[in-house]
Amino acid sequence: MSWVTVPLQPSHKKKDFSCGNVMLDNYLHSQAKQDVKRKLSACFVLVTADSNVQGYYTLSASSILRGDLPESVIAKLPPAYNYLPVTLLGRLAVDNLYKGQGFGAALLFDALKRSHGAIDQVGSLAVVVDPIDESAVKFYEKHGFILLPTSGKMVLPMATISYLLLIILKVEF
Ligand SMILES: CC(C)(COP(=O)(O)OP(=O)(O)OC[C@H]1O[C@@H](n2cnc3c(N)ncnc32)[C@H](O)[C@@H]1OP(=O)(O)O)[C@@H](O)C(=O)NCCC(=O)NCCS
Repeated sequence: MSWVTVPLQPSHKKKDFSCGNVMLDNYLHSQAKQDVKRKLSACFVLVTADSNVQGYYTLSASSILRGDLPESVIAKLPPAYNYLPVTLLGRLAVDNLYKGQGFGAALLFDALKRSHGAIDQVGSLAVVVDPIDESAVKFYEKHGFILLPTSGKMVLPMATISYLLLIILKVEF
């Protein structure tokens, strides 16, 4: 099975995409293309050989209040910065047909790898998600994200992602 994601293209078939969350379905059906065009987010998809979308995620540059981050992340940072740069993993969803087969984990890993790959060009301290429900919180918790009590957002520090990539891909940073 190929886990190669590509940027969302007009040729991708997305109208039948259904992940069990109407907001995430509607976003892909009618908003994602516009957001990509306006540079509000980048959208990456996994597709079948006949271009049906199996899963997708979005990434955007973002920022987070210093006080919302765990002490371990901000400990050595200059106190002058009230807002800190992060990468927002805005949406991530897998079509019902493909759930439970590792697609969600593969998309998440791909998103982390892409986010990490950009930090030498655009600074970012962590990948942040805004989980849509309790089930999403559990999914991200299972994959190492830390829940931030002040905002309900969840973060995975870039330092942790570096370590993960070192272990999994044997790439040293
Ligand atoms: C959450 C979602 C992306 C998971 O996709 P998936 O392809 O079914 O997940 P995977 O098969 O890759 O599962 C990977 C691991 O996460 C676990 N997992 C999957 N969904 C989970 C959940 N909601 N809570 C806790 N663990 C979960 C799996 O059990 C599996 O664990 P294992 O490695 O020990 O076997 C998918 O169910 C989905 O699209 N849900 C609706 C949209 C959504 O909630 N998106 C996330 C927030 S934006």
